[in-house]
Amino acid sequence: MNSDPSFEVVDARRQDVPEILDVFRVNGQFVPEALEVLNAWDTMSGIPLVAREEASGQVIGFCSLVPERQFRGGVVVHAENVVVDPRFQGMGVGSMLMKRIIKEARERQALRVVLECQQQVVPFYQALGFEMFGHHLAMRLPQGD
Ligand SMILES: CC(C)(COP(=O)(O)OP(=O)(O)OC[C@H]1O[C@@H](n2cnc3c(N)ncnc32)[C@H](O)[C@@H]1OP(=O)(O)O)[C@@H](O)C(=O)NCCC(=O)NCCS
Repeated sequence: MNSDPSFEVVDARRQDVPEILDVFRVNGQFVPEALEVLNAWDTMSGIPLVAREEASGQVIGFCSLVPERQFRGGVVVHAENVVVDPRFQGMGVGSMLMKRIIKEARERQALRVVLECQQQVVPFYQALGFEMFGHHLAMRLPQGD
């Protein structure tokens, strides 16, 4: 993996929605109508992020994070919908997206980042420092830094 500077992770904008849906589509994943996503944009619980190819501005990856304040105190950040255009997989884009989620979690003093994924992708998350806890993966975050 390299950390190619020609990719960037930025906040997703409404106008990115058609390209975001294309990234899911080319991965063979279900996508709703763009209008449905746009109508829900202002009320959705997740914070959407996109990876772009800097030269073209093309959306090549997506993820969202959902901070959750827990009943017993503390914040847990859920990482969701992590996906990279197959033409750009294996270039460090997925790692860039996850590192941004971890950064956002640290800024919120979250206790951990948690996610669910298919078995075949577990090594991707383990390489980033996630560990299996029951049926989900989690990264405990040090407190106080
Ligand atoms: C999983 C996914 C997000 C990884 O994104 P990516 O940009 O290809 O990942 P990176 O290039 O940052 O890879 C980082 C490391 O994880 C490894 N890795 C990536 N995908 C992997 C997979 N499916 N299985 C095992 N290891 C994987 C890479 O080999 C790399 O290891 P290295 O540092 O030793 O070279 C991407 O492959 C994808 O979108 N897959 C289809 C959708 C999906 O399964 N999403 C996850 C749902 S939870």
